[in-house]
Amino acid sequence: MRSLAELFALRSPPVIGLDLSASSVKMVELAPAGRGELCLQSYAIEPLPRDAVVDAGIANLDATTEAIRRCYKRMGSRLKHVAMAVPGAAVITRKIVCPAGLSDDEMEATVESEAIQYIPFALEEVNLDFQVLGPVSDNAELVEVLVAASRREKIEDRIAAAEGAGLIGLLMDVESHALQTAFELVRPRLPAQARDQNVAVVDIGSSMTQVTVIRGPEVVYAREQAFGGNQVNIEIQRLYGLSLEEAETAKKGGGLPGGYQAEVVEPFMQNAAIEIQRALQFFLSSSEYNRIEHIVLCGGCATIQGLESVVASRTRIATLVANPFAKMQVAAKINLKRLMADAPALITACGLAMRSFD
Ligand SMILES: Nc1ncnc2c1ncn2[C@@H]1O[C@H](COP(=O)(O)OP(=O)(O)OP(=O)(O)O)[C@@H](O)[C@H]1O
Ligand SMILES: [Mg+2]
Repeated sequence: MRSLAELFALRSPPVIGLDLSASSVKMVELAPAGRGELCLQSYAIEPLPRDAVVDAGIANLDATTEAIRRCYKRMGSRLKHVAMAVPGAAVITRKIVCPAGLSDDEMEATVESEAIQYIPFALEEVNLDFQVLGPVSDNAELVEVLVAASRREKIEDRIAAAEGAGLIGLLMDVESHALQTAFELVRPRLPAQARDQNVAVVDIGSSMTQVTVIRGPEVVYAREQAFGGNQVNIEIQRLYGLSLEEAETAKKGGGLPGGYQAEVVEPFMQNAAIEIQRALQFFLSSSEYNRIEHIVLCGGCATIQGLESVVASRTRIATLVANPFAKMQVAAKINLKRLMADAPALITACGLAMRSFD
């Protein structure tokens, strides 16, 4: 029971945030810059071949390890420890209530016997972790305990990939939690910091769109759907006869036919807005809330020019694109123009790098 507790909770030396996702490896290193401020020291994004990370699992360990190695080299960091994350679907969390004042051993035994009842896989396949949240309101004899059970293989694969690249896997987080950590960097841009409001953070990646609703300090909703920038590549392939790899390069570097914006980008943006609207309607119909006050877009597709206003006009919700580095100092070696384009995709890596300071 200890191993994951160590990964999830250890006080750590400074870490690189390492986000392993379907299209790329992303690494971020932050350093304290005095008065509670942060400095972006270095970052890198290294593309992954298409078969390397599939459905959030490592399908090709060698290719993944090599990409991490290249990413780390390009980044030029002196740190060796990394913080990584597993997707929410690989982790089941549950709040349970226990008597107050149990010893560590008693708590472990209680957590284990509770866990057997609600975990749909064999206990040998999971790592269990728990954290005492505090006393139950109006009953000092009971405490609320958060239990997390995660698929061991997802964690071990990630650590193996990092270690194969010469790094040390030190911390393991859950993706939605890393996102939430980094969202605190974006919060100051929202009116009144959106204190008692629902904020939908929408991460549009290459294959997946993740919708996370944050209210105050809590994630009240998290869901993913199969939608992302790969759809653009497929359309480019269909209409203009490029390979998917060529499409990926062309859409970032320009050089596509004049009709590209109207034929591909506009419909994609409309589809993205429809997907977001549906997800938010689903959230509202299944929760006690009746409003979402803000949408924050992130992930690589958030850089598509004009997406913000298409989403805002369809949903009628104030929308902005996340820039986790807006208030940070930035090391001189970093190209600011490129950083602006990369920033929305770096939010999870950034949240992981912030583990150095918690
Ligand atoms: N300038 C750009 N214009 C258009 N699309 C872009 C641009 N930059 C990145 N993208 C797209 O963003 C997507 C990658 O985003 P991101 O890095 O957030 O995905 P990912 O996290 O690897 O994927 P997933 O979340 O699905 O696992 C790709 O589809 C890429 O083509
Ligand atoms: Mg992603």
